[in-house]
Amino acid sequence: MTDDRAGLIFREDYFGDPAGWAAVKALLVDVFGVDVSPLDRLGGPDQTLMSSAWFDESARCVANFSAFSMPLVIDGRPVKAAALQSGAVLPQYRGRGLFRDLVRRVLQRCDAQGFEAILLYTDKPQLYEPYGFGILPEHRFAGGAPAVSAASPSFRTLDMNDADDVSLVRGLLESRAAVSQRLAVIRNMQTFLLNTVLVQGVTFSLLPQHSAVVAWSENAEGTVFTLHDVVAASMPSLCEILQAIGRQPERVEVLFAPDQLGWQGEGIPEDGDLRFMLRSQPGLSPNGPCRLSPMAEF
Ligand SMILES: CC(C)(COP(=O)(O)OP(=O)(O)OC[C@H]1O[C@@H](n2cnc3c(N)ncnc32)[C@H](O)[C@@H]1OP(=O)(O)O)[C@@H](O)C(=O)NCCC(=O)NCCS
Repeated sequence: MTDDRAGLIFREDYFGDPAGWAAVKALLVDVFGVDVSPLDRLGGPDQTLMSSAWFDESARCVANFSAFSMPLVIDGRPVKAAALQSGAVLPQYRGRGLFRDLVRRVLQRCDAQGFEAILLYTDKPQLYEPYGFGILPEHRFAGGAPAVSAASPSFRTLDMNDADDVSLVRGLLESRAAVSQRLAVIRNMQTFLLNTVLVQGVTFSLLPQHSAVVAWSENAEGTVFTLHDVVAASMPSLCEILQAIGRQPERVEVLFAPDQLGWQGEGIPEDGDLRFMLRSQPGLSPNGPCRLSPMAEF
């Protein structure tokens, strides 16, 4: 493998530059087929982003890797954590060591800022194992639904294309509580808002009595209720959520450890293509099955 960088220009932190941001968006469409442009109407990219990239002479971004702050709770302890994302190299520039260079630079910056844990999702875990990342198996939690006394619905379905509803969700995200003490994000404004656009089939309901927004879905028969996330300063129980949304399913699936929901389910390993990886200080790893809410995925 050669380290040929002739004609390439290294840049850092170009998200504030409209041309740089547009170039990265184009790279992500080219490599992943994902358009993050909706972020432009949702408050822009995460303000904590640290990005490193190689640009060509025509200002095209040919290789990028980014980190951003994603504070977590792990086993009840607040953890200063960073998330790595948008690792991408244009096909014609692969095999020259560009990504290896960017991984080293981004990790050096994370270490210099004292992050205690770094996480990422990938379908190529072997890329990151040499840098101390290990796979943390993800689990969903399934079980019988709690008994819901006479349903008394009290909710409003939000429209995430409506600026007022987006603003309402932003406000709740500012002061959200962790959905789990085992593993959860404490702050994830941009990932949540972008996922409202990227993740299909999820309903966002405001529960006024609980000052909570619940992200949920159900099967066609209404017999299986899936809880994706809860944004609230104080977590309602699963029973309160079902009551407020007026659902009486037979079974429930929760897509994060349900230790704050007054309900227990059996941990079932996820079998998707993406692996969740963690690099953390010794002893800093969730004690039991867990996963981040899909609304926190990045
Ligand atoms: C994966 C990708 C980022 C690699 O970029 P690259 O610039 O060609 O990688 P490099 O030349 O810097 O190689 C870095 C290391 O990754 C390894 N590698 C490269 N492509 C790989 C692949 N597809 N699978 C596994 N390992 C790979 C190289 O062997 C090299 O290992 P080494 O450091 O031990 O020598 C690039 O192929 C790409 O954009 N793929 C599509 C998007 C993607 O998969 N992103 C990363 C996953 S989150």
